[in-house]
Amino acid sequence: MSFHIVEQATPRLHRSELAVPGSETKLFEKAAASSADVVFLDLEDAVAPDDKVQARKNVIEAVNDIDWSGKTITIRVNGLDTHFMYRDVVDVVEQTGGRLDMIMIPKVGNAADVYALDMMVTQIEDAMGYDKRIGFSLIIETALGMENVGAIAGASPRNEALHFGVADYAASTRARTTNIGGPFGDFKDADGYRAAAHRVAALGCEGKWAIHPSQIALANEVFSPSDAEIDKAHRIIEAMAQAARDGKGAVSLDGRLIDIASIRQAEALVKKAEMIAG
Ligand code: GLV
Ligand code: MG
Repeated sequence: MSFHIVEQATPRLHRSELAVPGSETKLFEKAAASSADVVFLDLEDAVAPDDKVQARKNVIEAVNDIDWSGKTITIRVNGLDTHFMYRDVVDVVEQTGGRLDMIMIPKVGNAADVYALDMMVTQIEDAMGYDKRIGFSLIIETALGMENVGAIAGASPRNEALHFGVADYAASTRARTTNIGGPFGDFKDADGYRAAAHRVAALGCEGKWAIHPSQIALANEVFSPSDAEIDKAHRIIEAMAQAARDGKGAVSLDGRLIDIASIRQAEALVKKAEMIAG
């Protein structure tokens, strides 16, 4: 472990994140009743320029009036290169009375982008007297953001989640595709979604966006530990407790070596299972 201690961000379940355009008010109640862990109400790319102002009003009303309990509620504001962003932040934070959990910042390019938002949100929360601190979800979706990802991730204690925005990333790098791949655009292709989710799970991603309600269950399924995994995690913890009593640092379980790192893995898995059960 480094001498530099990284504070744990607010623990949240983040297996599925449902994207809902801020202009589509009829979808809001359904989103709140869905089984998505996180819902983000979008003011950015799913909203046409002429609808931006109305969408901002819609999402503020939705955060205040709808029962989002059991969910993390997020608003994706417009990018820092637009003239919409400052008012998105001011109106949303001032008018949601400490109910909003997170702000999603799109197309983050460098640490100063996060710093700017942190400064604004901090001033508004302090002026309004809100105790609850809004967290940040950051989308890495440009070549610049990818180049600066390390500095971006460490730019604010509000940072809780990093997302890879494959569609904009492909546009930024002029990749030869017109598919929306990360937020999986082909919502009839459940197997394709599952395969993409398994790939990113292996890379350490905690969850995946759903741009259609049918994708929520798929994400929850892929990113939830199975009963067998939970059982194994408990057995690892027990075996390592016995190893400690015997004065050993490593032992074998089911024919495989486990050591103290295995306890950390097993505990993380058990904690996640408890959050899902709760
Ligand atoms: C998401 O915003 C993406 O561009 O993939
Ligand atoms: Mg994008």
